[in-house]
Amino acid sequence: MPIKKILVDLSNSIKDDSYPILIGSGVICRGAGAGPGGGIADFLKSSGIKDRGRAFVITCGTVERLYGSVLRDFLEGAGVNTVFFTLPDGETTKSLKYLSYLYDGLVEKRVERSDFIIAFGGGVVGDIAGYAAATYLRGINFIQIPTTLLADVDSSVGGKTGIDHAGGKNLIGAFYQPKAVLIDADFLNSLDKRELANGFSEVIKYGAVLDKNFFSYLEHNYKSILSYDKNSLAHIIEKSCLIKAGVVNKDEKEAGLRSVLNFGHSLGHAVETLYNYENIKHGEAVAIGMVFAAMISKELGASSDESVNRVKTIIENSGLPAEIPAFTPEQFINAMKSDKKVDDKSIKFVLIKEIGRFEFKMLDFGYIYNFLNKILK
Ligand SMILES: NC(=O)c1ccc[n+]([C@@H]2O[C@H](COP(=O)([O-])OP(=O)(O)OC[C@H]3O[C@@H](n4cnc5c(N)ncnc54)[C@H](O)[C@@H]3O)[C@@H](O)[C@H]2O)c1
Repeated sequence: MPIKKILVDLSNSIKDDSYPILIGSGVICRGAGAGPGGGIADFLKSSGIKDRGRAFVITCGTVERLYGSVLRDFLEGAGVNTVFFTLPDGETTKSLKYLSYLYDGLVEKRVERSDFIIAFGGGVVGDIAGYAAATYLRGINFIQIPTTLLADVDSSVGGKTGIDHAGGKNLIGAFYQPKAVLIDADFLNSLDKRELANGFSEVIKYGAVLDKNFFSYLEHNYKSILSYDKNSLAHIIEKSCLIKAGVVNKDEKEAGLRSVLNFGHSLGHAVETLYNYENIKHGEAVAIGMVFAAMISKELGASSDESVNRVKTIIENSGLPAEIPAFTPEQFINAMKSDKKVDDKSIKFVLIKEIGRFEFKMLDFGYIYNFLNKILK
């Protein structure tokens, strides 16, 4: 399968941090000489970051165990001195404690600006490793090698990095773009079904508010996608990256359009907070949030029964949760207010107008409270 290349084109931003996303089977392991975009060795060579540099691979226990030796052997074979930092699996790793552990390791190894970090794992690893790269020595080069579907289609692209705080999710962070994103869908073979569906939730999001044809494709092909069919997975990863890159190209720092990617996240983040980030996954919470966002869109007259039904049906068909969990409206509102993007009175909501089209609306918490009260009865 040829390697696909998508450019995140930030040439219109204040600083041109444009970078390629390379997608393909074996993309990290194809050796030097495989041609432009042929593999990590070629990429390191052409980008110049390999010269004198060492690679600091930040990963999690599961990915280290499954694929650590593949990446290590490959990098060392390509002449790159490689050091691994392995973090525990799970959301609680996105914390000051483990960030501090990473800083200690980088200082101890005397990491310099000519060195680079590789974030090798899911969204948790990508976010914390990216933030360590953004802040250590005021910023050193980093590369994303995502290994979950969620990270392939969402978190590895766009430069949002950060960690959680007891007061809220992703409260500490920075926009910091990687030098490249290298996506090898073969890693997904070892991902369990729940994690695959978790990433699929963000894919549904792109179709729901930005691309009606893609949404139809997902409605017709969700079974093969969730059965790990290589071609369908390759297609949705490429399409999702194209959509996300298209949005980020226009609005890198979320001054406007990029907020559309928060469809389903207002209630989704609240659900994650109320579960204390345990027993629920990010994409699952977003799935609940998308159904809620579709329902409130209909209540406001922005949308029809058809959009609500189609969003709910694909979510249920994918094995994702669609029902709003049993918390009180007060609990939901308080959790929503802890989100970094809201003021005390209102929240910028992404409404769905019809499949593939969206609208922003500032909604008062009072209105959301009343609506929750009505539907939770
Ligand atoms: N930066 C962004 O723009 C952005 C966007 C969306 C989500 N996020 C963040 O991403 C995080 C969620 O990411 P996630 O869903 O990838 O979770 P995750 O990183 O916790 O990974 C999920 C689990 O899968 C395991 N795993 C990873 N790769 C594997 C593989 N190939 N085979 C088997 N197991 C594997 C991990 O060890 C972990 O246990 C959240 O913290 C969320 O806030 C960030």
